[in-house]
Amino acid sequence: MTDTRYWAVIPAAGVGKRMRADRPKQYLSLHGKTVLEHSIARFDSHPAIAGIVVAVSEDDGYWPDLAIRTRKPLHVAPGGKERSDSVINALAVLARHATEDDWVLVHDAARPCLRPSDIDRLIERLSADAVGGILATPVRDTMKRQDDAGRIQRTEEREGLWHALTPQMFPLGALRAALQRAAEEGAVITDEASALEYVGQSPLLVEGRGDNIKITRPEDLALAEFFLRQEAAEPNQEQA
Ligand code: C5P
Repeated sequence: MTDTRYWAVIPAAGVGKRMRADRPKQYLSLHGKTVLEHSIARFDSHPAIAGIVVAVSEDDGYWPDLAIRTRKPLHVAPGGKERSDSVINALAVLARHATEDDWVLVHDAARPCLRPSDIDRLIERLSADAVGGILATPVRDTMKRQDDAGRIQRTEEREGLWHALTPQMFPLGALRAALQRAAEEGAVITDEASALEYVGQSPLLVEGRGDNIKITRPEDLALAEFFLRQEAAEPNQEQA
């Protein structure tokens, strides 16, 4: 147990078109630093995490300007065409420092409000699990399936439906193998769990906090700012 290590992998090579901003969303300013710096700090300040790998685009002119300093080892990997390609590249870099049985927590750069308690919960629930799993929240709204004309075809059963969040936590070897096979076979992979599903595994759903939002649309930045202010105002909160 004592020699189990946990690593963070942060894909940060997206463009974020839906933000309609002058720069990729991970470089937008939020509560005193960039979105990406918040996401990195969440893991840098967590005692269970051994080190961090960030995937950044090779023509990314913002990353060098950040000049990030961390307490933990911070490695950089080249970004890829899709999110899953960026994660594959980051895992290849991580494999030089970690073993196949080490755990990897893959976290979107665009989720800066992740709480330490959610990292704790994920590790507690999954450390003894044979597969791994993800943070998720149950769907609250009534879900509609659309037809070709953009009208409602039917209402989907909401019971048992979840929003997949990050971090998503899996053993390094199993995650790499699943992502590699899915890529070779041309499967569409939008998160790490779907790669494990593709190879026949059933990752565990671990209920996380609803304020772990992904910054996607312009209004999300104000919401994230609100959540970070709230956290900072809480008594005994751990400052990332
Ligand atoms: O675009 P979306 O919000 O789904 O991206 C999720 C995360 O994946 C973001 O942190 C983004 O920077 C990252 N990403 C990446 N490489 C890509 C596309 C997205 O690292 N090619």
